[in-house]
Amino acid sequence: MGDLIKEALSIGWPLLALLAGLLVYSQISISDAAAKKRATFKLSIGMLAAFILLIAIAHYETSFYGANRLLPVSLVLVTSMCFMLGIYFPNQAALLKIGGFMFLVAAGLSGYGNWLPQVEGGFPPKEEKIQFESMSAQQLADEGEKIIFGGIGQNKVQGAIGKGQCPLCHAFHKGMLGERAPNLDGLPERAAKERLVDPKYSQGKPLAREYAQKESFPGAGTAENGQEYIAESHSCPSCYVVAGYGVKGTNDKESPMPAIHKPPISLSLPELAAVDTWFYIREGRDAPTYEEIIKTYEKFIPEADRPKQLDDKAAGPPSALLADGTEPVDQIFSKAQCVACHTIPGIPGAVGTIGPKLEEGTNAPLRFKSPDYKGGATTTPDYIMESIVSPSAYVVKSFPDNTMPKVFGQKLSAGALKKIVDYLSQVKVGAPPPKIS
Ligand code: HEC
Ligand code: HEC
Repeated sequence: MGDLIKEALSIGWPLLALLAGLLVYSQISISDAAAKKRATFKLSIGMLAAFILLIAIAHYETSFYGANRLLPVSLVLVTSMCFMLGIYFPNQAALLKIGGFMFLVAAGLSGYGNWLPQVEGGFPPKEEKIQFESMSAQQLADEGEKIIFGGIGQNKVQGAIGKGQCPLCHAFHKGMLGERAPNLDGLPERAAKERLVDPKYSQGKPLAREYAQKESFPGAGTAENGQEYIAESHSCPSCYVVAGYGVKGTNDKESPMPAIHKPPISLSLPELAAVDTWFYIREGRDAPTYEEIIKTYEKFIPEADRPKQLDDKAAGPPSALLADGTEPVDQIFSKAQCVACHTIPGIPGAVGTIGPKLEEGTNAPLRFKSPDYKGGATTTPDYIMESIVSPSAYVVKSFPDNTMPKVFGQKLSAGALKKIVDYLSQVKVGAPPPKIS
């Protein structure tokens, strides 16, 4: 709010000064008490209105989430102006009120149209060049929220997920379930005050570390402040593993989290800066500057490993699929992060142990024929499909419920789901894995 006022003043001070001058002048020059009162009233309202207008102008885009709110918000502004002008020009008051009313109706209608959920395929997403480096902290944080959750204001929506894919594993708000990965609420403070001073973090002594990786790359060293810790967590998850969250059977030496600058997630440094800025801004903290954050990533990601921001576009449309089904099945498994939680015979890198080994040609019939099975499947493909789109329909014994994400029904195309089901149906205990297609 303080910033808003400052910015409004910075563009509008001559106007406000003029009104204030008139106010003083009217006090001195008008002798009639009633007239003086009227002039004071009008000028005060004028100042207030001018001030609100200036704030609106200064923050036109960001305050109203971009182009689709511009029309209704503009109409509301014009409406209030009409009513306000009515005070100043009493002779035209009736006309102005009618005009104002018409604008109000127009604002209502266009607002209603714009607030309705946008029909997919109605308008192609705007292909604007996103210049992260010249954004305000709030704009950068908004981009970060889009990358993590797929849209602004989506951070509390269950199942919202963007190209960063973090909500597949992480919860972001106090009290929300986060069994597969630490809850990222309060991350900036925890990074500096708890993680860095943890003896196991071995600050300043990377070679003393007992994790699968000692340094992000030889010579990178360890983090010296909270932001560096965050950058290191993102680029080298196995350099330090939060206790209790390591890959099963590795004694917390290895992290199941994918390095997020590498495929399939492949966030560029500017995108990572946006994600981090969101972590601070959403808690009302001051974020480090864009340049400062980029430096922390340069410390942990060598030049050759930095993904290019290929198309200069940010997160893409909110509904973007994790995989569209044109990819070979091994890529679908890795794009959707199945590989982080499951071991899948025949799929390189699929060595996760958070969920069961997916030998569904053998397992599926055992599941849907078991007496405690309450789901609706009667064939192997049906069972696999059900496990993917509604994981809680049947929870495999000795594995936790609510751990497998429930978003795949929306986030994988029908074609991608079919390829997964075809592949997994053919995986049998003791048989060679099926061919990848
Ligand atoms: C496949 C699951 C998975 C995905 C996807 C994932 N993470 Fe993680 N993340 C983990 C796990 C498990 C840990 C804890 C182990 C460790 O310290 O590496 C972790 C740790 C972290 C930490 C350190 C937390 C702390 O309290 O010290 C941060 C920060 C983090 N993740 C951010 C992210 C962001 C941002 C994304 C998305 C761009 C993301 N993660 C995607 C599983 C995941
Ligand atoms: C964050 C971890 C996680 C991710 C990511 C994940 N799963 Fe799972 N999955 C689990 C867990 C835990 C279970 C066991 C509990 C249950 O049945 O819900 C499971 C169960 C399953 C089952 C039932 C297995 C059986 O033998 O009955 C299938 C099939 C499955 N997952 C497929 C997938 C596919 C395909 C993907 C990627 C599109 C995926 N999972 C992503 C954690 C995960």
